[in-house]
Amino acid sequence: MRRFRLAVLLPFLVAGIQAAGRAGCITNIPNRPGISLDGKWHYLVDPYETGYYNYRRQPYDQQEQPNREAYFADAVQKSNMDRLEYNFAQTPTLQVPGSWGMQVEQLHWYEGTVWYQRKLHYRKPANKRLFLHFEAANYESHVYVNGKKAGTHKGGFTPFDFEVTQLLLDGENSIVVKVDNTRRLDGAPTVNTDWWNHGGITRSVHLLEMPPTFIRNYKLQLSNRSQKTIQGWIQLDGPAQGLRVRVQIPELRIDQTYAPDQEGKASFEIPSPNLSLWSPQNPKLYQALLSTEMETVTDQIGFRTIETRGSDLLLNGKKIFLRGISMHEENPVSGTRIATESEARMMLDWANELNANFVRLAHYPHSEYMARLADQMGILLWEEIPVYWTIQWENTQTLALAQQQLTEMIARDQNRASVIIWSMANETPVSDVRNRFLKSLVDSARALDPTRLISAALEVHGGGPMNKVIDDPFGEWTDIVSFNQYHGWYGGNIHDFPKISWDVKYPKPVIVSEWGGGALYGLRGDSLTLWTEDYQAHLYKKTLEGIANIPGLAGFSPWILADFRSPRRPLTHVQDMWNRKGLIGEGGHKKLAFRVLQTYYQKLKAEEPD
Ligand code: GCU
Repeated sequence: MRRFRLAVLLPFLVAGIQAAGRAGCITNIPNRPGISLDGKWHYLVDPYETGYYNYRRQPYDQQEQPNREAYFADAVQKSNMDRLEYNFAQTPTLQVPGSWGMQVEQLHWYEGTVWYQRKLHYRKPANKRLFLHFEAANYESHVYVNGKKAGTHKGGFTPFDFEVTQLLLDGENSIVVKVDNTRRLDGAPTVNTDWWNHGGITRSVHLLEMPPTFIRNYKLQLSNRSQKTIQGWIQLDGPAQGLRVRVQIPELRIDQTYAPDQEGKASFEIPSPNLSLWSPQNPKLYQALLSTEMETVTDQIGFRTIETRGSDLLLNGKKIFLRGISMHEENPVSGTRIATESEARMMLDWANELNANFVRLAHYPHSEYMARLADQMGILLWEEIPVYWTIQWENTQTLALAQQQLTEMIARDQNRASVIIWSMANETPVSDVRNRFLKSLVDSARALDPTRLISAALEVHGGGPMNKVIDDPFGEWTDIVSFNQYHGWYGGNIHDFPKISWDVKYPKPVIVSEWGGGALYGLRGDSLTLWTEDYQAHLYKKTLEGIANIPGLAGFSPWILADFRSPRRPLTHVQDMWNRKGLIGEGGHKKLAFRVLQTYYQKLKAEEPD
């Protein structure tokens, strides 16, 4: 029965995803017209969700009472609202973007609902469609404008938007957002993660002002078949009769127009014999202008190919080795979610300083700043959805949620040359139902974006401590076989690492997506004393001595660039609710192991052909 249900659902899921991909949220936000809604928002902590459920625990949203979309929805016209027991104007404020737990001491550990509210004095522009766009809010959001529901979204790391043209008023408006970061068994991620559950409107909010028919999304990349052909599509939203879409890349003297089909989509292939391929050595970006009679959208796009041949990873047809590092989206100096471009740049500057050419953005989609900066800096990226550890594999709602987040991630970053790998999962226990769940994600990813490689961080299962076997069945369906290993930290004697034999069951490129160990910055001792910088540096040295023994090795991304907060790490005076495997400690200080990896990558880089 279980097998039947998922198999029957699958075609509808993929079709739905493709439709959702077309109807997904508006992309290329940095280059869209509108106003920022970042800044101070009033907030109300609501642990019993009083603002959403009545005393019989029935949601106001589903009741017939007029204007009772939600009690705390702060309907501007409070005509039939009897006495109110809340008043946003009297409440304190939170900075948006930002998580509540890092702004208000009493909310440090809070998991539940917080209501955000701000006023917006607005003059509605004529002949525009208005959209409220959230770059991310963790985890479940309900959005109201002047007391009316605009929409809901689940997933803490991907963008979403709702049309509010009819909900916004000329003059005074009230925008209310219910954000609930409660972890849930059927979620993606589920209840157990090794990172901090930062709740809130954690990325920027925009009010977008679009023409009646606008370019919702588009893709402009090199085709897999030719380094001299730009392939793509443009998806309009709104009546498209009589409109034409135009693609210009002035530096390549490209200027083409197309008639969209009845679904408002125009697909094309454009010969481009003279383009300069994007790469870490040459992060060449071209200005692209996409326009209709109603608007022009600009973007900066790099063109490159990424493929595998046997166990070789080829960038623009040439073999490449990924000198990587893993990264959470957390600023180690402040311990907060990264919310600004300058924080994202700080992290990628550290990766550059390491002589890295590759970053694994773990374990969820990071902010759009990361991929846009990586495009400019020539850093290759692995992007991942939070299908992490013990997801509810048999739950079709969970699968749909994972598919939705995958679609949102791909829709947002599919034009970023730096992104070369979409990762479906991290360290998930092998089972038939898990294999089917992940396989359907692979099918969706390939349907949405056939131009990038698919992987997932698997685990080493077979063999013993000195002969490790990588035979996870999921390796059958990925382009790259990636796995995490912690020999010398979670078991095993680090001195033995160079003597380990490795058996990888797939003739594909291999990335060791995690390895490493913990150290408290400033704690010194001999190389055998746990938690010292010296032990961590020694672990890096011994691992680097033996890692090349892994057949098909195409790169690795040690765990992790910087210490990060985690409720799973309580060791007093050492962890204090931080995971200490960073090469950079809390406060932004480099540990000894940073230099070990930096020197190793410097040598690799020097040996690379130009
Ligand atoms: C796992 C997991 C990480 C975790 C790390 C650790 O491999 O993928 O999310 O933080 O190990 O134990 O530090």
